[in-house]
Amino acid sequence: MSIQFAGRDVFDRLNVTDRLKIDHLVSQTQPSEDELHPGSDVVCGLSQTPKSLPPRYFYDDRGSQLFEQICDLPEYYLTRTETAILQDCADQIARLTGACEIVELGSGNSTKTRILLDAYQQADYPLCYRPIDISAGILESSAQELLIDYPTLQVQGLVGTYELALQKLSATHLPKRMICFIGSTLGNLSPQACEEFLQQVTDALQPGEYFLLGIDLQKSKTQLEAAYNDRQGITADFNLNMLRHLNRRFDGNFDLTQFEHFAYYNDIQHQIEMHLRSLKSQTVHLKTLDLTVEFAQGETILSEISRKFDLTAIQHQLQTKTLDLLEVWTDPNQWFGLLLCQLRSPD
Ligand code: AVI
Repeated sequence: MSIQFAGRDVFDRLNVTDRLKIDHLVSQTQPSEDELHPGSDVVCGLSQTPKSLPPRYFYDDRGSQLFEQICDLPEYYLTRTETAILQDCADQIARLTGACEIVELGSGNSTKTRILLDAYQQADYPLCYRPIDISAGILESSAQELLIDYPTLQVQGLVGTYELALQKLSATHLPKRMICFIGSTLGNLSPQACEEFLQQVTDALQPGEYFLLGIDLQKSKTQLEAAYNDRQGITADFNLNMLRHLNRRFDGNFDLTQFEHFAYYNDIQHQIEMHLRSLKSQTVHLKTLDLTVEFAQGETILSEISRKFDLTAIQHQLQTKTLDLLEVWTDPNQWFGLLLCQLRSPD
């Protein structure tokens, strides 16, 4: 009996590859601007005034590790608060949606997803998880771990941008689908990009299907600025690492000791603005992009915005995309919001 049980366990573990499918998305119709001209977004951002860089260059291996450290920082309340909300309401989410396929955009290491998977498993629903991430390495390693820990889980990952993945989602064999976008990554999109993104979510859902959104809410400037200027300097390393990443990728000569991290809360736009400030007047070359950039002393590069939301306003915006709010959960301090929406059926 015990031998059979051990054999079953080994079988389950060997079965991992049968339950895993990862597709790499490439645009068949039209290669993206980045595929055609790698780094064109860097050239564009550094050639304009004021200068900016796309936040996606934060996330090389070191940047992803630094981001994980940020999530554990005492000042960075976002991850802890959202996790606590999820722990409180995951069972309720599972009850409200019933059996459904969980699609996660920007899944990273899928830590918070486990709370949802536990709730669906507890409710005895079949488990099908579709992580979507630009990084194949992180997606594959976290999928392998999930498959070992959840013996009935099917994982169908997509490596690619959200935009492409949302267009390419094949039909689910489960009754419904829930697209999850947690971690307040929506806040890193400009208002226009946010509007376009919500439209893409709407287009990827069938009437009656779900969208789970985690967003950071507006709060005091002091608390927000502390979260993006931590005392250990991890956020500063994360920000400066973008320059290291560009040096490696495009054969550049940014001197990291001659730039500093600078983040503040713009309380008119309700967003944290993270910059890299040049400590002296200097010239930087990025050889493979054939780009020379002049910096004045004190000049900054905008590396990220992190928008902070008002619950009523976002609810209204979701409604204009026919995403009706079913339930909203927050923490006792109302620092963070988790919203479960359902795509409206045509009348
Ligand atoms: C990924 N994103 C939600 C983080 C944020 O808070 O906007 C990125 C980050 N930047 C600095 N610290 C964390």
